[in-house]
Amino acid sequence: MPIARAQTMSAYKEAYKNSIENPEEFWFEEGKRLRWSKPYSVARDCSYAPNNHHIQWFADGELNVSDNCLDRHLDNLAHKTAIIWEGDNPTESKSISFGELHQQVSKFGNVLKSLGIIKGDRVVLYLPMIIEAAIVMLACTRIGAVHSIVFGGFSPAALASRIQDSQAKLVITSNVSRRGGKAIPLKDNVDQALSLPGTDSVKNVITIQRTQEKTTLQEKDVWYHDLMAAAESDCPAEPMNAEDPLFILYTSGSTGKPKGVLHTTGGYLLHANMTFEHIFAIESDSVFWCTADIGWITGHSYVIYGVLSNGCTTVMFEGVPTYPQADRFWQVIDKYNVTHFYTAPTAIRSLIRAGDEHLRTSSRDSLKVLGSVGEPIDPASWRWFHKLVGKGRCPVVDTWWQTETGGILITPLAETTPLKPGSATFPFYGIEPAIVDSNGQEIENEGSGNLIIKQAWPGQARSLYKDHIRFLETYFSTYKESYYTGDGCYRDGDGYYWITGRVDDVINVSGHRIDTAEIEAVLNDHPSVVESAVVGFPHDIKGQGIYAYVILDPQVNTVVTASDLNTWVRQRIGVIASLDKVHFTANLPKTRSGKVMRRILRKLAGGETDNLGDISTLLDPTVIEDLKKEIQ
Ligand code: WT7
Repeated sequence: MPIARAQTMSAYKEAYKNSIENPEEFWFEEGKRLRWSKPYSVARDCSYAPNNHHIQWFADGELNVSDNCLDRHLDNLAHKTAIIWEGDNPTESKSISFGELHQQVSKFGNVLKSLGIIKGDRVVLYLPMIIEAAIVMLACTRIGAVHSIVFGGFSPAALASRIQDSQAKLVITSNVSRRGGKAIPLKDNVDQALSLPGTDSVKNVITIQRTQEKTTLQEKDVWYHDLMAAAESDCPAEPMNAEDPLFILYTSGSTGKPKGVLHTTGGYLLHANMTFEHIFAIESDSVFWCTADIGWITGHSYVIYGVLSNGCTTVMFEGVPTYPQADRFWQVIDKYNVTHFYTAPTAIRSLIRAGDEHLRTSSRDSLKVLGSVGEPIDPASWRWFHKLVGKGRCPVVDTWWQTETGGILITPLAETTPLKPGSATFPFYGIEPAIVDSNGQEIENEGSGNLIIKQAWPGQARSLYKDHIRFLETYFSTYKESYYTGDGCYRDGDGYYWITGRVDDVINVSGHRIDTAEIEAVLNDHPSVVESAVVGFPHDIKGQGIYAYVILDPQVNTVVTASDLNTWVRQRIGVIASLDKVHFTANLPKTRSGKVMRRILRKLAGGETDNLGDISTLLDPTVIEDLKKEIQ
């Protein structure tokens, strides 16, 4: 039997201990949370040994994700609301029951088949937060196609590179996306992407008609509504092996090339399903609202898969927190009696900035649990969220995890864990974190260092798409037989974990992961740029902002401004990579071996000019003085 939710810390500790000491037995029982068309005989087969590295969960079992999210609930919950959709404009909203969703997903499964999509084919989704996005995701899982969602804020070039890498056969988009009263031309972006080289794998584009705006159809294009009108509604769920690929999600690494994080079927779904229920303390009448976009892992696990597989109602919001006014979140909470509200520190900080008066137009009395994800939440914002938004009644679960982890790993349990503002508290069942110093020496008890995870867990990524070597190098080569997170962490005297942020060259802007090397590569491509170095710096709203040091080519006579470079980067990566500061300079601080000393650039960008640490290995220390002057 799967374990019951822990109501006390001692119950949590006991179950946790068992999960770490007897992982096979523990996960064998937890696996029963899902419906299997063919039961597994072994839960866990994992080893991080370098010569025998493998991660397999429930490997001889078969199941289907859409069956677990839909069919499984039809006996009891066919009429229950599965998705409440709130449009960008408050006058637009609708909802769909589990029964209706099942029907739409089945139809779209047949649409996919009619276009020749078969098990294992990659389908790229470039969509706004609309119900159809959930339909197509679930339909992919129903027939065994592998979806790869590209966030709608990414540029045509970024979309093209993801299509190229995944060799997708089909792209699904909408004519436009509406955000903050504006229309974003998703379909035009797809057309531009498909005009770029290397995208020939795409045989069709399906467009959802989100608005009546005029749309030019190309040769490969088909309308979603035409296909759906002709589709049969009977589409049996394809039994999938637990280790069959479920989806790819590209995320930033630290070497300039996005990584296609690959998740598989059984372990991922179990992890999303179990964490959702236990951490948020979900009841049968819960209305769960996670504000993340489906283009990020949070949207996959806690807008769609974790929520629907538990038969819980999920809210999908198309808009932004400040439109029409900065009370929009609170209005929506009252409108649907949202019980669980899961958002990002950057949104909280921007709403604090907008002023407390925006809380007066709502009661938020329906709320029971609040959640935070994406970056460290500072204690002041945590308290505001807890005291003003939740009126001091609702626990705040600060959940730490990553695209690669599939679901939450370090977190409070809403009903149980005594909270400390700013701490993600304790590990979830089966998760064995450790803190190590730069020599790989484990730090016991209190102390800080790099965060690693020792044991394998069901929801973790299995590979990087078509680049398993990079997968092993990135996550399993830094510390012996452990998963390397790339995050720094402090554990206090009470055993609470405090995530301090990335220790690699990944920066976290408004909860979105950005690779500094990727921005540098784009900047260096500019005809006037000789060299660049990009670092993060503390930013009031975004958490981290993007600071670019740029050396211009003296031979090129055209005038280049900061805003030109910003446009250049946004066009090539997307709005999330907007440069907050551009610092033109003549030299970068380099070591004798020619490596840019980013540590110093980070400090200078953060306004720290005195304590720069050891600069004895610098080739030319006067560079630092010049940079300091330029900053002043
Ligand atoms: C990075 C992962 C999966 C969540 C969405 C972001 C940071 C995430 C927290 C938290 C402190 C956090 C880490 C992590 N992060 N949650 N609660 N406290 N930091 O997923 O884009 O893969 O980014 O986000 O630095 O490594 P992601």
